[in-house]
Amino acid sequence: MGMGSTLAGPGDVIVLDADSHASIYDGVRLSGADVVRFKHSNAADLEKRLRRLGERTANTLIIVEGIYSMLGDQAPLADIVDVKNKYGGLLLVDEAHSLGMLGENGRGVAEAAGVEDEVDFTVGTFSKSLSAIGGYCVSNHAELEAIRFAIRSYIFTASPSPSVVASTRVALRLMQERPELRERLWSNAQRLYDGLKELGFQVSPEVSPVVAVTIEERDQAIAWWNQLMHNGAYVNLVMPPASPTTDSLLRCSVSAAHTTEQIDRIIAAFATLVPSTAQEVGN
Ligand SMILES: Cc1ncc(COP(=O)(O)O)c(C=O)c1O
Repeated sequence: MGMGSTLAGPGDVIVLDADSHASIYDGVRLSGADVVRFKHSNAADLEKRLRRLGERTANTLIIVEGIYSMLGDQAPLADIVDVKNKYGGLLLVDEAHSLGMLGENGRGVAEAAGVEDEVDFTVGTFSKSLSAIGGYCVSNHAELEAIRFAIRSYIFTASPSPSVVASTRVALRLMQERPELRERLWSNAQRLYDGLKELGFQVSPEVSPVVAVTIEERDQAIAWWNQLMHNGAYVNLVMPPASPTTDSLLRCSVSAAHTTEQIDRIIAAFATLVPSTAQEVGN
């Protein structure tokens, strides 16, 4: 929110992925820049929008996420970088859900795609893989330093507490020193994804540490969320407008700390939903 509201201003243009997180939407509204949305993860549509902007691309900020928070799909970052290089503008990538998940050093989708140097601003949060609170922005642009004097959400808020700084530093170190945690995370994610798919649930388009089950009926999603909780599995219930479509989601966040047995228990909890629906339909 801070970077979106400060990097651009009136007269500039922000072109953002339509499925961007609420904090990105809030930030760009605060900026006063003209806001253009492009179709989710569609580099061709981004290109169309940039082409229409003509010379204004020189004052354009493109915003995408690394792994998208709701369905866990990855941005086609290499294609997006190609479009940016062709038309100009600056690129900001929110790696909130991809920090620690992807790349040799866990730096996210840009590292995994080999395009880190082409990304102008990388933002992220300490609140997902690092289990703390707070966030960051890194950039190769020396001018980033100037943002400290202009970014209201940073200036007019308290500093993180020492305990949060300490735990974030340790988590960052572990993230880099123990790549086996990443392997464990992906094997857990794959196990849950395959298990839910096998049960016939409509899962996300691709495997990721966010495994979301799509449910058309809102009441069904609420009932199933309660039933899962009753059976010992807590997941996030996501309903429109928080979900990208009119469907609801039962969204699981997999961690490296889950044991295989726990993943199997989650799958078993989901398995109990199927017969109860059949029963309800039967009644
Ligand atoms: C893509 C994205 N950006 C930013 C945030 C905000 O993170 P935080 O609540 O840690 O500030 C989130 C959190 O859900 C997110 O999913």
